[in-house]
Amino acid sequence: MWCSTLFTSVLAAAATVQAYSVKTHVNYTVVTGIFQQDDAATDASSFNFTAQNFGLIERKYPSDGTYWGRKPTSWQRLNHYIDTLNRKARYNERYTLLFLGRHGEGYHNAAETYFGTPAWNCYWSEKDGNSTVTWADAHLTPKGVSQAQDVNRFWKKLLTTEKIAAPQTYYTSPLFRCLDTARLTFSGLPLPRKSPFVPTIKEYFREGISAHTCDRRSNKTYIHANFPTYKFERGFAEHDPYWTELHAEPSADQDIRSKKVLDDVFSNDKSTYISVTAHSGEIASLLRVLGHRVFGLSTGASIPVLVKATTIKGSGPSTTTVPYTAQKTCAAPPTITDSSCNDCSCCS
Ligand SMILES: *[C@@H]1O[C@H](CO)[C@@H](O)[C@H](O)[C@H]1NC(C)=O
Ligand SMILES: *[C@@H]1O[C@H](CO)[C@@H](O)[C@H](O)[C@H]1NC(C)=O
Ligand SMILES: *[C@@H]1O[C@H](CO)[C@@H](O)[C@H](O)[C@H]1NC(C)=O
Ligand SMILES: *[C@@H]1O[C@H](CO)[C@@H](O)[C@H](O)[C@H]1NC(C)=O
Repeated sequence: MWCSTLFTSVLAAAATVQAYSVKTHVNYTVVTGIFQQDDAATDASSFNFTAQNFGLIERKYPSDGTYWGRKPTSWQRLNHYIDTLNRKARYNERYTLLFLGRHGEGYHNAAETYFGTPAWNCYWSEKDGNSTVTWADAHLTPKGVSQAQDVNRFWKKLLTTEKIAAPQTYYTSPLFRCLDTARLTFSGLPLPRKSPFVPTIKEYFREGISAHTCDRRSNKTYIHANFPTYKFERGFAEHDPYWTELHAEPSADQDIRSKKVLDDVFSNDKSTYISVTAHSGEIASLLRVLGHRVFGLSTGASIPVLVKATTIKGSGPSTTTVPYTAQKTCAAPPTITDSSCNDCSCCS
């Protein structure tokens, strides 16, 4: 008898919590006028982030007068500006500098170039590889490794000469090419002792999921064996729960989970400087959620984005996803080579 009484009071308590819990969501906006890539006039295809100092615009900030110290670099003045914005921000606002990096060239990128996009999309990408090359959960090609090493040299220069504030936390997609790019990019740098390079692997920073085997991740045991110092987010499954043979994640669904992973990071991580290593499609999705202009990144490229995050009452945009769509393929590689065949209607 007491058992059911207890049960009733637990239910009553749960109902009370529910009645008083206030739903909130995070609204993101980009602070423009800081980086060239915020500006619609900057051409993404010719933008070289290492030659352009990450696109940092040479300008004055309203906080320059309160910088304490001699001859600050442009990055030190920006970092001071961001700190000032945060000190003056309202209780539900914060400013965060995100560094969004795309992985270096992987074997799947090289294979798409080699076979041409129609043959790649409609035939080869659904296989794990050919007799000489594996592109399922692709590793970096030698060119991809060297791209990541270039970014590492760039960070070294920024940290030593430009006195940039290093990332305080690191996140990466669970796909091998990102795990490895992050390792090559941030290893051996003069990072602050209190924020070493120990990335957290987050499922939702992965690439848009298609029928391509390069979008299917390896199991957790394998990832841990290859990247033993990396942390897994809570609940990270042993086997890929999302990749589905011959099906693709709609881009509306991708934006919903991109917002979820950003909300998760912004709710649980107080850092002002955050690095994310992800993919072209996923960075495009993150930029949409942040309200940034479209800005395509080539393999190995990286951009900073100054984000203002405001926590607002209410449940925010809908998070109702739609089912994955079936993806058409060809029984043999199509011979057409131009990109007109994006629905695989050109099977030979
Ligand atoms: C964020 O707020 C701005 C300004 O109020 C609004 O225009 C925008 O739609 C909001 N974005 C989201 C994702 O809620
Ligand atoms: C970008 O600029 C750097 C010099 O900072 C140069 O070494 C590199 O080759 C350039 N990359 C491209 C793709 O042009
Ligand atoms: C396998 O694909 C790669 C392209 O990624 C190509 O360079 C190689 O020649 C192919 N191997 C065979 C045996 O066709
Ligand atoms: C994990 O993946 C590796 C490499 O693909 C494979 O050899 C191993 O059997 C897998 N382990 C489990 C538990 O599935």
